[in-house]
This record gives sequence, structure tokens and C-alpha cells, in this order.
Amino acid sequence: MQGQKREQWASKFGFILAAAGSAVGLGNIWKFPYVTGQNGGAAFVVIYLIAVLIVGFAVMVGEFAMGRLTQKNIVGTYTQLQGRNWGWIGWLGVFCGIVILSYYSVIGGWTIRYLVSALGGVSHFASEGGAGQFFSKFTQNGKEVLLYQGLFMLLTMVVVFRGVASGLERWCKALMPALIVLLIVLVIRSVTLPGAAAGVSFYLKPDFSKVTGTTVMAALSQAFFSLSLGLGTMLTYGSYLRKDVDLPKSALQICALDTFVAVMAGLVVFPAAFAFNVQPGAGPGLSFVTLPVLFAKVPLGQVWAFCFFVLLFLAALTSSISMLEIPVAYLLDRGWSRPKASTLMAIIIFVIGIPSAIGDSLGWSLFGKDIISAGSYLSDSILMPFGGLMICLVAGWFKRGSVLTEAGLGASKALTSFWFFLVRYVAPVAIIAVFLSGLKG
Ligand code: PHE
Repeated sequence: MQGQKREQWASKFGFILAAAGSAVGLGNIWKFPYVTGQNGGAAFVVIYLIAVLIVGFAVMVGEFAMGRLTQKNIVGTYTQLQGRNWGWIGWLGVFCGIVILSYYSVIGGWTIRYLVSALGGVSHFASEGGAGQFFSKFTQNGKEVLLYQGLFMLLTMVVVFRGVASGLERWCKALMPALIVLLIVLVIRSVTLPGAAAGVSFYLKPDFSKVTGTTVMAALSQAFFSLSLGLGTMLTYGSYLRKDVDLPKSALQICALDTFVAVMAGLVVFPAAFAFNVQPGAGPGLSFVTLPVLFAKVPLGQVWAFCFFVLLFLAALTSSISMLEIPVAYLLDRGWSRPKASTLMAIIIFVIGIPSAIGDSLGWSLFGKDIISAGSYLSDSILMPFGGLMICLVAGWFKRGSVLTEAGLGASKALTSFWFFLVRYVAPVAIIAVFLSGLKG
């Protein structure tokens, strides 16, 4: 709103944590292991790492720089930089945020269900059968899933309601270190289980003969999802940023942290999955079945399980607030108040998410997939890569002068030039190539 000062992060550290909080979430611990499992293991991991480095990093710096340059939400940024005709690309980003949050909140609700269940002990998880049964019984119970989804949306709304520094930033500060410590403990337990070695080799020994266009596309989609790119999250977070923050360096740190958490999550899930006879290609239930069995097998398992699901829930929350912030930022820039904007958007997204919550129990499908998979295909494989490509075009070509200057403020010259090369040539070509090869399968 004109005349009203734009909100800002209280500190550089707070910004890094909030952006890392957006990146690190269910994408790392729930999604990365099962997508890796469905795509054959280690070769997928290698391609994923390349995708993060050459596409993820490039798009992230582009988003930060464009947001900080215009000090606007994603729709305002495209309109200001490229003119009215480009506003729809911003809208597509807002739409994508809404699509993701509509199903993300369902999985967020699962984490709350699991932490509640851990309060009652972990003995019912003691075998693959027990944990698998718990998972399918719960996800088939539409009413219960909906209840937890609503609770998750409500909590997301409360944080966004409170604003940038006191809401978003404060929540992210203490969580990341705790999550990492817990993951390391779980890795140690998982890789020392009897029978874990087969899982470690599935996860770390690549067999490139299994790689197809679909594998590469899955890796790129996962990189966009996990790093929260292509829909304006990082752009919006960049718009709340002071000019003295080194963007390329921050982006590298965020990419590294996000990748570290994902790789560690795989190192917990696969050895345990092989040890407990859970199929690595089991799909969305993989972590939610494998991890509880693991908890049932460690001393003080109930305490670990409770702590883990609390952290997973909080990691999901620091991501979901960043999604809700995209449409809310748009409404704020149009003069709405924060409470009004966040309440309205949260209600709309909750309603759009109802089919994702109850679809499983009613056997609904969309484009031949269950509702959650259809939503995630639309967002990760189409909207986010497309949004990322547009960022590359604006940052690397159309407005390269001003975006390059913005990205280079206070940053190392070498790293900035490396970024510019990636965003101008490598990332857009990679996105287009992967898209074409993915279409061919
Ligand atoms: N990166 C988040 C995760 O890995 C998901 C997310 C996607 C958040 C898009 C914001 C925007 O869980």
C-alpha cells in the first residue's frame, strides 16, 4: 500500500532461517524418499543433486533479486518489470501456491495425527503390518483426515496473521537445529539395523541404465518443490529483504541445507525400509510407514517418535506459511489488512483442499491419479518449472541489467557471474530439455 512502509525481516539470519524454513519441509522428509524410491534409487539422487545446483540455485537467486528489486508480490513484480501483459504469469504463481497448499495441508494434518498417536505409545507400530495398517486405516477415514487438515490450516493462518518478523521469522529460528540433530540420531539407528545394507546400497549405488526422461523430470520437479521455487515464495521473501544481504551466498546456503536434510531423510528411510521389508517404491506412505516401525525399535521410542513428529509438523508449518504468504502478500499490496487477507485465503484454501482430504476414502481420481498426486503433478511438473523458466527469462534476458546489479549487491563477483551464466543459459535450456524429454517419457 502506498505510504505504508513495507514489512522487513528483523535480521539477515532471520531471513535465511525463514527461507530455509520454507524450503525444508515435507518435501524433504515425506516426498524426497518416496520419489527416490519410485525412481530407482541412487541414480535419481545424483540427477537431483545436479538439478539443485544448476537450476535450483539459479532460479532462487533470480527470485530473491527480482523481489528485492521491485519490493512487490509476484503479480506486482511481473507487472512492474514486464508490463501488464505479464501479470498472468504472476497469477499462475499465486494459483500454484493455492494448489500446493490445498494438498500440503492434508499431509501436514497427517503429521499432527501421528504426533497425537505417539502420545499413546508406539507399540502398535512394532511391525510393518501394524504401521501399514494404521496408515491405511487413518488415510481411508475421510472425516478424520479433514479434521486434521483443518487444524493444520488454522495454525498456518495464525502464524501468517501475525506478520513477517513476529510471525514467520520467529517460528523458524529454533527448529532447524533441533530437526537436524534428531535426523542424525535416526540415521545412526537406521543404518545399524540388521539388513540395512541393502537399503544403503539402493540409495547410494547408482545404476544409470534405469534413467529415463521421466526420471530426469521427476528430479527437476522435486528440486522445484523442495526449494520452494517457481511460484513466487522466494520472490516474496526477497521483497522483505534489506539491500545489504548477499543473495547468491544466501541461496547457496539454503540449497545446501535443504539438500542435506533430504539426503539425510533418505538415509533414515531406505535402510529401515529394507530392514523391515517395506517396498521402497511404496509411494506417499513410505516415510509414514517406515519411520514409525523404526521408532518402535529404539529405546525410548515413544519420546523419539513424539519429538520427530513435532519437528516434522513444525517443518511443514514453516513451509505452509510461506505458501499462504504468496496470495496474502498480493492482497496486502492491494491495501487489505493482514488479518483479513490471511483469514480469507486460509478459508478458501481449506475448501479447495477438501477433495484432497476425503478423496482417498471415497476413491476419487483426477486425470487417472488420486487427488493428491494429480495436484502435485500439476504444481511440481508443470506450474513450478514453467514459473522457473519465466524467472530465468526475465532475470537472464529481459531485465538482465537491473536484476544482475541487484543480485550482485554486496556479493562476490565470481559467484554472481557464475549465477548469471547459469540463469541465462544453463537453467533455461535444462528446463526446456527436461520438459521435452519428460513429455516423451
Ligand atoms: N519446499 C517445501 C517442502 O519441501 C514445499 C513448498 C513448495 C513450500 C512451494 C513453499 C512453496 O516441503
